[in-house]
Amino acid sequence: MSNIYLVTGGAGFIGSAIVRALAGNGHRVRVLDNFSSGLRQNLEGLGDAEIIEGDIRDDARLGRAFEGVSVVFHQAAIASVPASVADPVLTHEVNVTGTLKVLEAARKADTRRVVYAASSAAYGDLSTSPKVETMPVAPLSPYAVTKVAGELYCRTFHEVYGLETVSLRYFNVFGPRQDPRSQYAAVIPRFVTAALRRQPAVIYGDGLQSRDFCFIDDVVSANLLAADAADAPGGIFNIACGQAISLNQVLGHLEQILGHSVERRHEPARVGDVRHSLADIASARAILKYQPGFSFAEGLRKTVDWFRLGPDRK
Ligand SMILES: NC(=O)c1ccc[n+]([C@@H]2O[C@H](COP(=O)([O-])OP(=O)(O)OC[C@H]3O[C@@H](n4cnc5c(N)ncnc54)[C@H](O)[C@@H]3O)[C@@H](O)[C@H]2O)c1
Repeated sequence: MSNIYLVTGGAGFIGSAIVRALAGNGHRVRVLDNFSSGLRQNLEGLGDAEIIEGDIRDDARLGRAFEGVSVVFHQAAIASVPASVADPVLTHEVNVTGTLKVLEAARKADTRRVVYAASSAAYGDLSTSPKVETMPVAPLSPYAVTKVAGELYCRTFHEVYGLETVSLRYFNVFGPRQDPRSQYAAVIPRFVTAALRRQPAVIYGDGLQSRDFCFIDDVVSANLLAADAADAPGGIFNIACGQAISLNQVLGHLEQILGHSVERRHEPARVGDVRHSLADIASARAILKYQPGFSFAEGLRKTVDWFRLGPDRK
């Protein structure tokens, strides 16, 4: 079998960073993406990566995309809580049926391993902190339900068919190329781009809600480790930094980096948003040998630098 790495959702924020790292390590990389939220410019400069435009629910495209694939990093999804609240059926089709089809295609193609982008949304608003993978799941949104269903399918395909699957429960990922423009955009690119334009940062709720923000390079390294770790198959791992930062603290760090104050505008809290989220990453450390390499402040500085470059950035 040839040694091709497939990244579904490879034109997205996280997927394109995985593609960049794989290509940089000299691997053959293929992307399957329908460009519903991903951008071609995220793949600029990666001339050797093969790009297949298509939907993960399309069996013919999937079959073609899996030819010769040894590992798939399955990132494609509708990756937003508010989008799932607006259209739960479409979110289910893409995130659950799509993941099932990816697993089935991997099984048929004799793919060695599937690394799945799961989510900390699985924990919902459980009051116990930090979150450990053995806790019961408590999804609060259609999005969270779909991400848990994907994990269950991954584990089941491991148990029933012997397919090597690894689920990585990302906490709040941030970094260069995260899209600030959608109405459902994540908080850090929204705050950074607003602050750079000297516009107010919109906070849903009181700003005391906290997240375990994880810099994109750490998420990429977790994926690469998960592709090979001997004891990982069948497992679910928290991927985060292990530190809780409130949204008000994010703005404080941002003001320090920029050297000016950022105006706050509070709006009502959003349906499906969890209050606090902090990860226990002991299992990822022990089994994947994962080690976060960036503090929140370092990651935020790199993110600000990237957004500051504007159209000149690569
Ligand atoms: N960003 C985070 O903080 C975070 C946290 C937890 C989990 N995740 C998961 O990580 C993955 C990547 O998230 P992201 O932040 O990079 O989002 P993103 O929206 O930037 O990337 C998703 C990619 O999937 C593609 N896609 C969507 N539907 C598709 C379909 N039907 N067929 C083919 N491609 C399709 C999009 O075009 C896009 O390129 C998702 O599975 C998401 O649920 C992200």
